[in-house]
Amino acid sequence: MSSRGSFSGQAGFVVAAAGSAIGLSNIWRFPYLAGQHGGAVFLIIYMICIFLFCFPVMVGEIAMGRAARLNAYGCYTKLGNKHWGLVGLAGVIIGIIILSYYNVVAGWALGYFVEITFGSLLQKDDYEGFFGSFVNNVAANSIYSFIFLAVTAFSVAGGIQKGIERANAVLMPALLIILLILIGYSLTLPSAMAGVRFYLVPDFSEITAQTVFEALKLSFFTLSLGVGGLMTYGSYLRKEDNIIQSSAVVTWADTVIAFLAGLMIFPLVFSAGKSPAEGPALVFIVMPEIFKEMPEVAAHLIGGAFFLLLCSAALPSCISLLELPVAYFVDEKKMARKKVVWILALVIFILGIPSMLSFGVIPSLNKLWFYNDKEFLTLVADVTDISLTAGGCLMCIFIRNKWKMSNFNAELAFGNSNFTRSFARKYINFTISYVCPILLALLTALVIFDKVYNVF
Ligand code: PHE
Repeated sequence: MSSRGSFSGQAGFVVAAAGSAIGLSNIWRFPYLAGQHGGAVFLIIYMICIFLFCFPVMVGEIAMGRAARLNAYGCYTKLGNKHWGLVGLAGVIIGIIILSYYNVVAGWALGYFVEITFGSLLQKDDYEGFFGSFVNNVAANSIYSFIFLAVTAFSVAGGIQKGIERANAVLMPALLIILLILIGYSLTLPSAMAGVRFYLVPDFSEITAQTVFEALKLSFFTLSLGVGGLMTYGSYLRKEDNIIQSSAVVTWADTVIAFLAGLMIFPLVFSAGKSPAEGPALVFIVMPEIFKEMPEVAAHLIGGAFFLLLCSAALPSCISLLELPVAYFVDEKKMARKKVVWILALVIFILGIPSMLSFGVIPSLNKLWFYNDKEFLTLVADVTDISLTAGGCLMCIFIRNKWKMSNFNAELAFGNSNFTRSFARKYINFTISYVCPILLALLTALVIFDKVYNVF
């Protein structure tokens, strides 16, 4: 065990797991989806999904990791058998694929940070056009995403305490500070309150099936569930630490950051007289337009801070995504951590190239004929999204039918002497056994149906 490494304690684990959870989806995806789906009502439904259904799945992942003290494949093999191991192995592969495109988007954030702070981004007139040419600038994008991946690899190569824990201990407070400064600024703008009202006062007539559907999908992705990333982190957690409490803190931290991101963005959007429903373009097209209207110094500082915030959210998520396959090769193939890290980083960089080229440089990747003429990156993101909910569903079935609830509960009782008699035990047992597998199976089926027939 000592050769695998471990977190220094519960706090180190919680910060790293929160770092994995908090990512582009909190700062980018959550605000634009909330903007498109009625603001406050989306927030409420999102929180219900997170606490009622996702929290038990997180507890399940971490418990499996700590019980087996192995990578995702090893967990399923040790607690189950080789056949179940394939579910873990699929998670490892999906993690690699997610990182290949996630890193490209993180590279855009880094590029925008550089362009807005040191370059001429604020002098542009047409941000839609700029974004279009930016994502097609292959040379610049390769450099940005390469840098991002190299920093990720460097952190993971340092090991659990000296690399992953240390990077998170710097990045997470930095993220919070930048976010609070930006909120302070945005709440003092004229018409800020219109944004706050949109975000906090629910209009229940806005609820549609699509609102619920998008909130459920997002809540699963944002908590990094379903691929085994948190399972891997759980394998480095000490026996005396409390899994329920740690999961609760991670869940809250992720939700609070998403909430704060909305509180920063909507006042900015409303003060600039923009629509909150711009969709994915919100961050890369609408935000620069907003920064441009500010006095010059503020524009550079606030705009720069905003994209730095995106980078500091994305990096810990990338770190956990890389640790997932690294742990597999270290545990199963007995390879040296540093060597695996750099080989995998190179492979992931190469796998990300088609995503990077899918915005026009290679027309056939830009409009996939078999996928409603969407771009390759969207295909990869959609397929991996489905794998997360499918993976979560299989994990619940595994815990109930193969590993057995008694072993699961015994693991949760370590570091939590009240667990056996607690309400949490009843609730988690019930949801893992019945609610989550059914709900996740349904959601997976609906997502596939939606992708093929475009229902939502
Ligand atoms: N949770 C991360 C985010 O919100 C993404 C992620 C998914 C990270 C799965 C690890 C595993 O951006």
